[in-house]
Amino acid sequence: MTLSCEHISYTALAEQFGTPLYVYSQSAIDEAFARYQTAFAALNPLICYAVKANGNLSVLRRFARLGSGFDIVSGGELARVLAAGGDAGKTIFSGVGKTEAEIEYALTAGVKCFNVESLPELERINRVAGRLNRTAPVSLRINPDVDAQTHPYISTGLKANKFGIAVQDAPAAYARAAALPHLRVTGIDCHIGSQLLDSAPLTEAAERLLVLVDNLAAQGIVPEHIDLGGGIGIPYRADETAPDLSAYAADIAKLLAGRPLSLILEPGRSLIGNAGVLLTRVEFVKHNGDKNFVIVDAAMNDLMRPTLYQAYHHIEPAETPSVAPFEADIVGPVCETGDFLAQGRSIAAQAGDLLVVHGAGAYAASMASNYNTRPRAAEVLVSGSEAKLVRARETVAGMLAAEQACL
Ligand code: LLP
Repeated sequence: MTLSCEHISYTALAEQFGTPLYVYSQSAIDEAFARYQTAFAALNPLICYAVKANGNLSVLRRFARLGSGFDIVSGGELARVLAAGGDAGKTIFSGVGKTEAEIEYALTAGVKCFNVESLPELERINRVAGRLNRTAPVSLRINPDVDAQTHPYISTGLKANKFGIAVQDAPAAYARAAALPHLRVTGIDCHIGSQLLDSAPLTEAAERLLVLVDNLAAQGIVPEHIDLGGGIGIPYRADETAPDLSAYAADIAKLLAGRPLSLILEPGRSLIGNAGVLLTRVEFVKHNGDKNFVIVDAAMNDLMRPTLYQAYHHIEPAETPSVAPFEADIVGPVCETGDFLAQGRSIAAQAGDLLVVHGAGAYAASMASNYNTRPRAAEVLVSGSEAKLVRARETVAGMLAAEQACL
């Protein structure tokens, strides 16, 4: 058994590019995007890929070529979209803390819409737009108070979360937006959380937004689009199943029937999560009392999800192992007890073996850090029998370049 990405074995990729290594499959990206387009075809949505999931320029360029728009949360992400050839006119600017400089940059670039999360942000966008002699298109992010039933750190649509404007405050916020001279109200949006394995809370959030749309009509406010955020989960474990995208789309189509509202979606994870893996090599197998540790060359700085969200990533050898499976924690070299990729896992591995960490296309490289002065890993995009280095491995010299020993 030899595991491969498209037509190239992981072993060959690791030999050519070294480890740790993020590997992405272009055809898996294309297929994931096509699944959304097919499921939602009747609604002709604008799919705005959430850049935070994986902002590699080649990944963004691929989405741009597929016709995708983008969901961004910083000026930095906008710069990525533009550098990758993405269309600012199909880009939505989300996030609770947009700075004046970021708003100015986005207005000048001509983004499609600002998803606004508070009254002070409305005032700020109006002020910047006035200064630039422009009109800013805005949508209000509504917090529908729906439980996404996901990990608390990635649940965003509850009253207790910092995100969005409470439903009961929305009519007044919309009235204020309509009254501000440099804003044009174009939409309504929400995002209730990530990694949802049941689409019912997403549909419920949409229902709550539509009640609000009906109430807003009485104020003479008519949004042109509804943006339902991201949030469809992916299977990380063998026993998990993703929500049925077509069923979710059909539920939304039923809710939107007869309404002059166009649809925007902001998926991230479900477009790239299972299109990527992290390759890592076993350095040592260590036995400590009755515990076993497989010490690999990837660490929490390369994949934060296990320690941050107790997330499960399936891990298996890239080639048929020559030892029997045993139970172990799969850990990195970082000096933290929280530095693990998996705990209590059955794994067959010995020093020198290559392991494949699945589900590492989303929120892996994009959340990586230099903790323990570890250079961030290289990224490779595979298409058929071709592998392109799309991000070079960082060097220690590069990491030190911005610093000065000045005392
Ligand atoms: N739109 C907004 C406004 C968001 O905040 C997010 C994700 C998305 C779209 C994309 O959601 P997705 O389709 O990927 O579920 N680091 C965490 C996930 C954080 C998600 C934050 N917001 C993780 O590794 O699970």
